[in-house]
Amino acid sequence: MADHEDASENRLQTRSLADQPDPGVQPIPLDPRRPRLTTVKVRARDEDFRIVQVHGNLFICSRANGNCCCGWEEKGRMPFDNSLWSDEWERRRIRNRLHLTFTGCLGPCAVGNNALLQIHGRSLWLKDLNNTAFIPQVFDYAESMLHADRVLPPPEGLRDRVYERYLTSGATDDAVHGKVADSEGLERLDPVCLMDVDPATARYKVEYEGRTIVFCAPSCKKLFLTDPAAYVGG
Ligand code: FES
Repeated sequence: MADHEDASENRLQTRSLADQPDPGVQPIPLDPRRPRLTTVKVRARDEDFRIVQVHGNLFICSRANGNCCCGWEEKGRMPFDNSLWSDEWERRRIRNRLHLTFTGCLGPCAVGNNALLQIHGRSLWLKDLNNTAFIPQVFDYAESMLHADRVLPPPEGLRDRVYERYLTSGATDDAVHGKVADSEGLERLDPVCLMDVDPATARYKVEYEGRTIVFCAPSCKKLFLTDPAAYVGG
């Protein structure tokens, strides 16, 4: 297999969890045209395994995995099959640096089709990927960061597709773009699954502490009622 050939052509440099070189492992001159590969020793089921470390993972919300919106033509999204992404990924031979995973629902269904690119320790969210032209652009962006060995701002074509979804515990370098946080629109959120729900048409709602809380489904409403304070903070 092509990716296995890639891996075998690279010399492995191993390192432990503590980032210490294994005793006895000599530094190996690396071919500068090839990515440097390292492994980490991981113990599982009383056995030691060598796991190749990668720079990142591209997660694609896939209808094939039972999601609820992304890829659903009947919900106005671009239909896709997984091969649109996997063929492009294989063609670029980046398997040993960037993993590709098809997931179920990633969460922000309202802005799908969605993808999450975790790279160099950052999480970059991609939304509204409703045109096949975005697929090579996403891989171009990822490859440019693999090449640069750091997170880069998105290229022109993806600038309005990339956003921050995860809260961070401290200051970030904001390499992607300035963070814009606000509290507008929270009245439209199902507080359990975080789906966007139109209060005017919501079928499932409760009154709680002077607010109308809306839900996308009875299951969310039921969960909420078991412990409202867990879902609606002060
Ligand atoms: S179905 Fe894709 S994010 Fe929910």
